Amino acid sequence: MLKLQVILGSTRQGRAADRVLPWVLRRAQAHGDFAAEVLDLRDWPLPFFAETRQTLGDPSDPSYSEPVVKRWNRKIGEGDAYLMITPEYNHSVPAVLKNAIDSVFASYAFRNKPAGFVGYSGGIVAGARAVEHLAHIAIETELVPMRNSVLIGQVGQAFDEAGDPTNPMSERALGILLDDLAWWGRVLHRARAEGQLPPAARRPVAAAPRT
Ligand SMILES: Cc1cc2nc3c(=O)[nH]c(=O)nc-3n(C[C@H](O)[C@H](O)[C@H](O)COP(=O)(O)O)c2cc1C
Repeated sequence: MLKLQVILGSTRQGRAADRVLPWVLRRAQAHGDFAAEVLDLRDWPLPFFAETRQTLGDPSDPSYSEPVVKRWNRKIGEGDAYLMITPEYNHSVPAVLKNAIDSVFASYAFRNKPAGFVGYSGGIVAGARAVEHLAHIAIETELVPMRNSVLIGQVGQAFDEAGDPTNPMSERALGILLDDLAWWGRVLHRARAEGQLPPAARRPVAAAPRT
């Protein structure tokens, strides 16, 4: 079973995320390839990112500015695959989600693992711009972002009383995304076990001629 971490990108009271999450979680659990765990950022009161060499401590086992940052890095390190649920805030991802990603620092815990995205918004854009930004952010962390995503527009009316999406396309999109995450999760798990190149950010320095 692949460890799938479902990261919830909104923390505000009354969030629409609470309509999206139960459906995504049910489908991930029913898929058969995943042991799914929800990482609700409400439960992870990460400080605004401000790490320095001094706050990191020992780079081989960083202590970070606060214990919760170390716990967060360790928790992310346990994942084989990630499913990020994000609303769209000002054409991008909420600051709390970007901060949680930035806080995975020095541990390279996201590296060479797949990430899928479920975007939503109150209007018809359906979180598309947030998901596009998230894919770019994911590349920089050396996550492997999935091409297929789930986009839910007018999120207030997007689920029926049973909590199922009213648009059948949402079910199909989530099924495809979960299949992709399972395939990539298995492939990358095997590939990591066979050995990995050094983190990308370190390689230009390592390759530079010594003077
Ligand atoms: C600060 C802020 C900025 C927003 N910006 C956008 C936006 O750029 N595009 C959009 O479609 N909806 C935007 N919305 C509407 C949200 O997508 C909608 O309120 C959604 O329910 C937020 O998710 P949440 O309730 O889980 O926090 C914005 C909402 C907030 C609070």
